[in-house]
Amino acid sequence: MKDFNYYAPTEVVFGKESEEQVARLVKKYGGTKVLVHYGGQSAIRSGLLPKIFDLLNQAGIDFVKLGGVVPNPRLSLAQKGIELCRKEGVDFILAVGGGSVIDSSKCIAYGVPYEGNVWDFYLGKAKATAMLPLAAVLTIPAAGSEMSESSVITNEEGDVKLGYSNNLSRPKFAIMNPCRTFTLPPYQTAAGVTDMMMHTMERYFTKDDDMDLTTEIAEAMLRSMKNAVFAVLKNPEDYRNRAQIMWGGSLMHNGLTGCGVSDDWATHQLEHELSGMFDVTHGAGLAAIWPSWARYVMHENVSRFVRFAVNVMDVPNDFTDPEGTALKGIEAMERFYHAIGMPINIKELIGRDITDAEIKEMTRKCSRDHHATCGCLKVLEAKDMQTIYQMARG
Ligand code: NZQ
Ligand code: ZN
Repeated sequence: MKDFNYYAPTEVVFGKESEEQVARLVKKYGGTKVLVHYGGQSAIRSGLLPKIFDLLNQAGIDFVKLGGVVPNPRLSLAQKGIELCRKEGVDFILAVGGGSVIDSSKCIAYGVPYEGNVWDFYLGKAKATAMLPLAAVLTIPAAGSEMSESSVITNEEGDVKLGYSNNLSRPKFAIMNPCRTFTLPPYQTAAGVTDMMMHTMERYFTKDDDMDLTTEIAEAMLRSMKNAVFAVLKNPEDYRNRAQIMWGGSLMHNGLTGCGVSDDWATHQLEHELSGMFDVTHGAGLAAIWPSWARYVMHENVSRFVRFAVNVMDVPNDFTDPEGTALKGIEAMERFYHAIGMPINIKELIGRDITDAEIKEMTRKCSRDHHATCGCLKVLEAKDMQTIYQMARG
């Protein structure tokens, strides 16, 4: 079992009407001049943003607004946010939205006290030692950014999508009202669940698999999400299952399912090139890659894939044929993805054949010009990445 450091400092305020507590919480964490950062239209249409503005006004908390965050959030808007915060003397950022808004907020929060270009952190050229405090009012369970230490930003120059992780960026508080997710379209609901399940699967498919407690927690979460997603696709206003998904999204990426084990993240890294190049929904991109990754690496730990097949995907265990059972688990996952409207290859994801040149370019970016590897269960070099993209082309 690996040693570990579990750090989950975010205060979670969960339940119906939980956004009513926003002003109290901003004050508790020292916010006196707030940037309210948000996305496109959904939080305005639902009435959530006007309500947040009212609550801040009533509490006498001064704030400025910056909307327009798009999925796969862009560096240019974050840079605009950094300038705005400096000009206005902002001391606290409140993200109202999903992973894209929270990640954009983290990027702004890093940039305000930093003298260089905030992109340095994402390039690995600098490590943040200070940042503005931030918090989230979550509207879509998916990325887990409301409790995680990560942020993922797309630099439009070259369509490069890079992540940066630092414990400083874990939000001070996260407000989660499952009712606010009733308006999610089926595709975003399904992509969100796919993403959160993958956050745990990245930590589940490992070679050091002797931490039974972590494994059992992971399997229970995966089974719960699998059941809950069908319920909410059938009835979008199913509070109980919306709530399970919302809490699951946070638990599956706050480090809990990584205690004592290594993590892989190859599927995520391969996917970031897809959403960087084609601007697709992150969760859908993961579904398009994972089956090919799984088939390519399963021989590194067949028994783990068997365990997944049996305990998560309800495949009968054929003790005479472990590889066959493992493969049936991957096929069952593909059927699950299709059943919730997710793609299982790149053609289904982008609606056309991907070209050889595009695969070459994604491989180049993912391998940082053939200098970097990714993954842990099987360490992938550029040629492996290229093979997985080829297998996933559909
Ligand atoms: O912009 P609006 O109009 O709000 O629409 C959003 C957006 O189009 C919509 N939406 C959000 N809440 C809604 C809603 N529509 C109706 N009702 C609601 N209540 O949903 C769309 C997607 O939102 P987005 O924030 O992009 O989704 P998600 O949370 O999946 O975030 C995706 C981003 O997070 C990154 C991904 O790479 C991607 O850029 N990730 C961040 C991680 C982290 N920080 O730890 C880890 C993840 O692995 C992931 O990479
Ligand atoms: Zn993800």
